Amino acid sequence: MTATLLTRQDRDGIAVVTLDNPPVNALGRALRRQLGEVIAEVGRDPAIRAAILTGAGRLFVGGADITEFDRPPEAPHLPDVIAAIEAAAKPWIAAVNGPALGGGAELALGCHYRIAASGARFGLPETALGIIPGAGGTQRLPRLIGVAAAVEMITTNRQMDAAEALAAGLADRLAGADLIADALAFAQEVSGKARHPGARQKDLADPGEAFWSAAGARIAKAARGNPAPAAALAVLRHGISAGFEAGMRLERETFLKLRNSDEAAALRYLFFAERAAARPAALRGIAPRPLGRVGVVGGGTMGAGIAAALANAGLRVVLSETGEAPLARAMDRLDGILATQVKRGLHDEAAARARREAVTGITDPAGLAGCDLVIEAVFEDLTLKREVFARLAEVCGRETILATNTSYLDPEEIVRGLPGQERFIALHFFSPAQVMKLLEIVPLTATGPEVVATGFDLARRLGKVAVRAGNCEGFIGNRILLRYRAGAEAMLRDGISPAGIDAAMRGFGFAMGPFEMQDMAGLDVAFRARETARALGRDVPETAGDILVRAGRLGQKTGGGWYDYAPGSREPLPSQQVAALLAPYRKGAREMPAADIAAALVGVMADEGRKILAEGIAATPEDIDLVEVHGYGFPRPKGGPMFCSARGTVRPER
Ligand code: 3HC
Ligand code: NAI
Repeated sequence: MTATLLTRQDRDGIAVVTLDNPPVNALGRALRRQLGEVIAEVGRDPAIRAAILTGAGRLFVGGADITEFDRPPEAPHLPDVIAAIEAAAKPWIAAVNGPALGGGAELALGCHYRIAASGARFGLPETALGIIPGAGGTQRLPRLIGVAAAVEMITTNRQMDAAEALAAGLADRLAGADLIADALAFAQEVSGKARHPGARQKDLADPGEAFWSAAGARIAKAARGNPAPAAALAVLRHGISAGFEAGMRLERETFLKLRNSDEAAALRYLFFAERAAARPAALRGIAPRPLGRVGVVGGGTMGAGIAAALANAGLRVVLSETGEAPLARAMDRLDGILATQVKRGLHDEAAARARREAVTGITDPAGLAGCDLVIEAVFEDLTLKREVFARLAEVCGRETILATNTSYLDPEEIVRGLPGQERFIALHFFSPAQVMKLLEIVPLTATGPEVVATGFDLARRLGKVAVRAGNCEGFIGNRILLRYRAGAEAMLRDGISPAGIDAAMRGFGFAMGPFEMQDMAGLDVAFRARETARALGRDVPETAGDILVRAGRLGQKTGGGWYDYAPGSREPLPSQQVAALLAPYRKGAREMPAADIAAALVGVMADEGRKILAEGIAATPEDIDLVEVHGYGFPRPKGGPMFCSARGTVRPER
């Protein structure tokens, strides 16, 4: 027997239909069928003059049921259910109680009127899933709010709150504290009217060629391998030039085609992987420790970024530096980050000031006593980090969690012999820490489970994606990065140019290729790691990167690395000096198709990923893909190296 997923309550001739399909009232097949039945019943019932449609719980509707997208579509289809509402003689009023997303927004658009609670939100996030709105969103939205605003919402996933929706014409009215009472009054008001508005009836003027080409160019620039935003634009445009019905036909056809695409499969996979990663099975039932005041040791690139991320999440921060001058520099870095965030509209001046005031600078680590967590981000030097942790263990009580942000050192070595081993952990942030979504959480042999759970809770509060990684050199991400760079260097030795390799990886969807990325980050960090390993007697062969660093080419910061840079410019220019330096190291110039380069390098990443899985460093292929997507710029529509490799979506040219 199918569960009842909606309720109908009649009040004074108005039917109140409440969708109740936890957790997000997704419009799965059973709910579509029940909604279709209730629409027909309301139409037939002589005692009913109007209907209100609302959602139970926090949300109106979170969209179509994404779990159905791996199967063929099953009737009744959502566009038909919505068309039945729009065609009804009695008015339907969407009482939007919370987020109305995707198919949920489309359902509200198909109603004759919309009344929004203060917590309502409207969004068409389908393109983020590699599809386009498939139930009339591309046709009804522009007819309600205008073409430019609709293009923005559909192609960039911009969402509107209740007040914006009212101003834009997406909502007819804002409700007070009692949404249903206000919706009932509204329904009584409109139920006597002879005709009710339907979005499809509205006329729409074509905004002209210049508008479409500018929108197309903007979309192409941001697409990074996701075909959906451009497809949505084309469908929207078609509905304007050829009319509503033709637009609806093309929308359906495009929706069904994209639903089956590799990109949509990859984006769905990541959607579910991100949600699963936030709640690892191993931590079920383990409560995190409370976090209020967090210490950061070292206010350099990482420390300042971590402090900003913590303050942005409402935590109080104590930032420790070695002296007044470095502390002043650290605070300047923090100010710079907050000012940039104001410029980008992430928060206003007042919020930036409050966040700045939440950060206290100190030069004596004794001031870290009483913190719930301290994150160390000093120079990547084992002796220094050991000193810092020895001092932290002295000044902080056993209840303080002590974390290192080391990239390549062994965290066990950093804390060896110190008391209270259960409270040590590695929390590996990515640069810039206030922006990058990834946090690798690396428990050590003796780390307590509630300490690990606190790491995951911290990630949630910072809005980051947490992945648990085992302890090995480079953890998950940097270990794959080393192999990726080594793979790129092996191609270079075979005669492929850095520019050819970078262009291939950009073509694949990375914002930057491996050589450009090193020039931006600096070649010296990895060089120092190799030199340290060599000093310890490990066999680390000389790399092309070593040759460049020894010649003083550390990247953009020294005016040149793999490429030359004109003063003040970030545009990579092919370098004669690099060609000369590397000539003895290379086999002579040759070319390779871009698809082959990308297939080979993604293959290298996946091979390393399989070793990481076999060693238990990562728990699942999904965790590896999340690391690559959120920490290393792997293009989201490709899913990640493990996804690509399992699905066979990166193919060499035939
Ligand atoms: N279909 C199926 N399951 C969904 C879902 C959906 N549309 N949206 C969320 N879920 C599931 C999640 O996987 C999660 O499941 P789990 O508990 O088993 O892990 C659970 O619902 C709760 O989700 P969140 O953890 O994300 O809950 P939040 O409260 O943080 O966020 C939300 C709620 C804002 C609705 C968020 O889940 C979200 O953004 N969902 C996707 C929205 C979306 O993309 N909608 C468009 C779908 S495509 C579509 O509608 C096509 C149409 O045009 C025809
Ligand atoms: P950085 O050189 O920018 O900053 C280090 C800061 O630590 C300096 O401000 C220095 O004054 C301070 N410092 C040194 N000794 C200190 C002490 N005893 N007490 C307090 N402060 C002290 O270095 P960065 O790049 O911020 O790196 C820090 C750590 O983060 C390193 O372990 C690095 O491997 C790691 N990391 C770096 C990433 C990056 O991309 N830069 C990414 C992820 C991790």
